[in-house]
Amino acid sequence: MSLSQVTFTYEKFSPESLPQEWSALVSAAKDAAEHAYSPYSRFSVGAAVLTDGGHVEIGSNQENAAYPSGLCAERVAVFHANAKHSAEAVTKLVIVAKSGGVFTDSPITPCGSCRQVLCETEQRFGAKMQILMYGSRECYLVESASCLLPLSFGSESLGGK
Ligand code: THU
Repeated sequence: MSLSQVTFTYEKFSPESLPQEWSALVSAAKDAAEHAYSPYSRFSVGAAVLTDGGHVEIGSNQENAAYPSGLCAERVAVFHANAKHSAEAVTKLVIVAKSGGVFTDSPITPCGSCRQVLCETEQRFGAKMQILMYGSRECYLVESASCLLPLSFGSESLGGK
């Protein structure tokens, strides 16, 4: 028997101290949250991505009376970018959330299904995706989606080796 350990590092920022390179994406994600369709949870999530071709695309959560048919903001944003710019890697993602009409003070982190999609997006393009999780009090930054899903299942797993 042997033990293995997986650790990852993430940075914490106050919104005021975020590097300038994030400001346009944070604004785009905040705007996107205004277009959420979330009558069931009353929790509005906005996401914005940057591609390596310089395109910014957005997403927001889209709910449905048949609850599992809805989709999270992160997947709407990534699929939106991939559908428009299928040859461009997604290199940055910002996530914001609004509850009770105000942005959450702590960041929200992507759900498990979104982590799965974000990891495959990295693998598909062979490029890391930095993820900024925004809160009005503090923000978290990870350097790669894969940090959020250790021992993930991916296309290589289907090879059966
Ligand atoms: N949601 C997202 O859009 N992203 C997340 O990271 C977490 C949750 C959505 C799904 C659902 O519409 C609502 O927030 C409440 O779970």
